[in-house]
Amino acid sequence: MEIKIELTKNPKEKPQDETKLGFGHIFTDHMFVMNYDTGMGWHDARIVPYGEISLSPAAMCLHYGQEIFEGLKAYRTADGSVQLFRPDENFKRMNVSNERMVIPAIDEEFVLEALKKLVKLEEDWVPHTEGASLYIRPFIISTDPYVGVKPADHYLFMIILSPSGAYYSTGLNPVKIYVEQKYVRAVRGGTGFAKTAANYAISLKGQDEAHKQDYEQVLWLDGVEQKYIEEVGSMNIFFVIDGEVITPKLTGSVLPGITRKSAIEICKNKGYKVSERRISIEEVAKAYDDGKLDEVFGTGTAAVISPVGHLKWGDKVMTINDNKIGEISQMLYDTLTGIQWGKLPDDYNWIVKI
Ligand code: COI
Repeated sequence: MEIKIELTKNPKEKPQDETKLGFGHIFTDHMFVMNYDTGMGWHDARIVPYGEISLSPAAMCLHYGQEIFEGLKAYRTADGSVQLFRPDENFKRMNVSNERMVIPAIDEEFVLEALKKLVKLEEDWVPHTEGASLYIRPFIISTDPYVGVKPADHYLFMIILSPSGAYYSTGLNPVKIYVEQKYVRAVRGGTGFAKTAANYAISLKGQDEAHKQDYEQVLWLDGVEQKYIEEVGSMNIFFVIDGEVITPKLTGSVLPGITRKSAIEICKNKGYKVSERRISIEEVAKAYDDGKLDEVFGTGTAAVISPVGHLKWGDKVMTINDNKIGEISQMLYDTLTGIQWGKLPDDYNWIVKI
């Protein structure tokens, strides 16, 4: 399919101070758009000036949330070139989410080419400052003007770009996480493994209550017994207990994170014992009491590696590794960002050059 390009007549001013970008507030000059209609398939691929879209107030995505999204980043290397980290994994996962949400599949190779074209066009928006990157948000929404509940016949696929800094205002400093005991994020047979808006909407109540207690994020327990650890919502979670690196296994209610998968590969490659298994909050608390909980950290595209300094479970507040970044968290951060920013060789073949 051909990609038509319409350039903006009003390019925006780029951010002057890249240390103050924040996360996800600023958008570039152009976006990629493509339509789907039953009977026609995906068509009308185009890069157009970034701007508002017009939707019927009855558009199905607004009522029943039939949408999916992805998150990845473009990084600027020391020689000024721009590169992506495992983008094929994002589009593969997008189709897994599509399948769950009854949204038509995309051609993974075509949308990767479209993304490369868009990022190439917006190359000057990729930040030059250490720690900042161009956050990429591909997403699909259902657009039929209809208030009945059914899979739609019309969709919009879009990619928007946002020059961004760290997801958490604390940067690489440890975050405070609150173990949610009342609400749940996902259940067996639900949508936990898909990257769809519903999983994030459902998490807001817990996050709001955590914020009121001065905690940044919520650690979700399983939706049946509220005993086994699942994920944080904005990232997957890892524990280092007595030298073993443990992360909850993918049982269908946890997002299969690309940074999670990469962190597992790096740890195994460096000779650490890594287990993907069920881990209960009791096991974590016991390890803490026994002095064996060495590190806790989250992994995510936006969050990269985020050490957890405080973990609150009911009245128990666990201070992990003296609220400092641990050895494995630091190693993973250095390795991942080293590969992403081209400071380390791409030994795993994860980089796609623009
Ligand atoms: C990402 O890490 O890219 C995500 O999509 C998580 C989102 C909460 C920012």
